[in-house]
Amino acid sequence: MPRALMLHDDAPRARLETLDESQLPERAVRVAIDYSDLNYKDAMAVTGHGKIVREYPLVPGIDFAGTVTDSTDARFAADDRVILTGWGVGERHWGGFAEAMRVDADWLVPCPQPLSTRQAMLFGTAGLTAMLSVMRLKEAGLGPGDGPVVVTGASGGVGSWAVSILAHEGFEVHAITGKPEQNAWLEALGAHAILSRANFESRGRPLESTQWAGAVDTVGGQILANLLAQMNYAGKVAAVGLAGDAALPTTVMPFILRGVSLLGVDSVYIPFDRRRAAWQRIAALPNALLSHMHVEEVGLDDVPDRAHAMLEGRTHGRVLIDPRR
Ligand SMILES: NC(=O)c1ccc[n+]([C@@H]2O[C@H](COP(=O)([O-])OP(=O)(O)OC[C@H]3O[C@@H](n4cnc5c(N)ncnc54)[C@H](OP(=O)(O)O)[C@@H]3O)[C@@H](O)[C@H]2O)c1
Repeated sequence: MPRALMLHDDAPRARLETLDESQLPERAVRVAIDYSDLNYKDAMAVTGHGKIVREYPLVPGIDFAGTVTDSTDARFAADDRVILTGWGVGERHWGGFAEAMRVDADWLVPCPQPLSTRQAMLFGTAGLTAMLSVMRLKEAGLGPGDGPVVVTGASGGVGSWAVSILAHEGFEVHAITGKPEQNAWLEALGAHAILSRANFESRGRPLESTQWAGAVDTVGGQILANLLAQMNYAGKVAAVGLAGDAALPTTVMPFILRGVSLLGVDSVYIPFDRRRAAWQRIAALPNALLSHMHVEEVGLDDVPDRAHAMLEGRTHGRVLIDPRR
């Protein structure tokens, strides 16, 4: 009988419960979950911030990796190693903060060799989204020779993977962070220059001196508006997150006078083929990238505490969840 972290709409919100198999959703594939992880959206769901959870009770966890135990769908069989990210799992469908879950076959991607399921969740939705951002920038024509690429929220899950992957691909990465105590770690990930978040928070002019050829932005708000004003001619910005603010107080000036492109990145509903391609690119990254990532490994009962810490800006790198711990 699998244990799960269950969210309720009365207190206490998050409860560790043991589920009967018959309580699991009636879906085609049962997965024994090896690892999940904590994303910003999970932290909001677990603490009740925003409108992430649509229906209670709900097992949160927007991603997991594990091993199929049984399947009525011909695409999967027992012992297959699989990854699930997105599709509204952990928001409207029961998710990964459990020892086992039943899910739709359409939501699963095979875990590509040589990635272990633990390594897959060290990347998780954060690493997948960072990889999708890099793919989007490169497809728009950005190359390492074009100039520096700036990453905001650099110490966070998406940000730190973006720093790491961009540096590996030969880009000169400038990291914006609100955590000066993580400067040395960001340099170890491959950041060429570290900039203080405070320098980007106040309202700037519609166009500023040009500084960057590309950007991966995980925070939105005034910081993104300021980056847009500082992009080189034909600069490319991947808009990924809203850890700072969902608003975008900008003008059309960077777009019409400098030909800047703002490129949206979504990891939740991207089609299967692109998802699989991104995971294959992740699996081809050298192990050295994994060894530099900061990882905090916790069990299901630690999740509420780490969720509060994440929203208060007290985490960095990745929070890995071992449901059997
Ligand atoms: N588009 C997609 O499919 C997708 C996928 C995954 C995540 N996201 C979004 O991307 C964002 C980051 O997610 P994550 O899982 O990487 O979260 P995370 O690990 O908590 O990282 C967020 C980082 O943003 C910075 N930050 C936090 N509060 C801020 C504030 N008030 N103003 C400016 N910067 C702030 C911090 O970095 P520093 O201290 O280093 O500045 C923090 O570490 C979230 O908005 C999430 O919803 C989107």
